[in-house]
Amino acid sequence: MDGWPGGVVSVRMRASLAGCHVSGAERLAPAEMADAVARELDARARSRRPAPDNVVVHCEPVDPAAIACAPVLPVTTIEADRPLSARPAASELLVRSGVSPEAVDRAFCGLVAGWHANGPIRGAAIVDRASGRRLDTRADRGVRVSRFDYAPDAAEPARAALADAGLGHFRTAEALALATKTLWAGVSAELCWSDDADYVAGYVATPESGYCRFDRFKPDGAVGGRAFFVDPGVDVDVLIERLERAPLWIVGIPAVRRQAAP
Ligand code: COA
Ligand code: AMP
Repeated sequence: MDGWPGGVVSVRMRASLAGCHVSGAERLAPAEMADAVARELDARARSRRPAPDNVVVHCEPVDPAAIACAPVLPVTTIEADRPLSARPAASELLVRSGVSPEAVDRAFCGLVAGWHANGPIRGAAIVDRASGRRLDTRADRGVRVSRFDYAPDAAEPARAALADAGLGHFRTAEALALATKTLWAGVSAELCWSDDADYVAGYVATPESGYCRFDRFKPDGAVGGRAFFVDPGVDVDVLIERLERAPLWIVGIPAVRRQAAP
């Protein structure tokens, strides 16, 4: 990216097959690394099987002075051997963080059956942590967190700390980064499991407990999704702008541990 010397580039990849999204990832890269990062994300998309028939890699300059920093969340794997035992442990973490039991139940329903009449949504639902009511008006789109990455000197040490604890899957590092930005932006707590049929791990993230993952969280047949719990009085438009557009470096090495389910 010779046109942006000394700058930072947001590199974003999305891939689809027959019009259905199959893969997405993003980085913030120093300008001199941006071409290599774009090629890496493109190769990652093309290596999927079945292969996508459309890959878009988008590069956009970011003002380095506008990039904030946030410490990476600590990671705990909570030992629950199936979704039925993971759910109460996750619910307790959320309730302890100020989410009402009703909001927890409504969010689990959203992740099982979808938030929208047409099923799953393409981003997160913003949910009132008291009432459980969905506050964003993005229907089947939802809100997608973007423009975040591990800081250049934090990326390898953070991935190594995760890999040393048996968490070397790229999804874990990327979901941890996304959850770190989500809480930094002002979300009170997050609940997530994937929409990928083969990936059953998921997590809860809260300021008190950090990123708490469950190896087997998603029940059979659940559609997947994310719930972002927020204070009832939050300015949803301001929050969405921050989640989507405020650039963020994630710094530090995550503490990683395991814990028995309560
Ligand atoms: N699911 C379904 N469709 C998606 C999608 C997703 N997760 N992400 C993108 N798309 C499709 C949609 O059709 C979308 O149109 P919409 O805005 O009407 O939904 C279109 O692609 C354009 O999306 P946009 O977000 O504007 O593209 P982008 O190139 O700026 O960024 C991503 C794409 C995928 C990189 C970004 O949205 C994202 O999700 N970044 C975070 C990735 C990450 O780290 N995830 C961690 C997962 S563990
Ligand atoms: P994934 O972890 O990629 O399987 O995504 C799980 C769910 O999270 C998807 O079904 C979407 O509802 C939602 N989602 C996907 N990308 C984002 C994002 N960037 N920010 C917030 N939610 C997302």
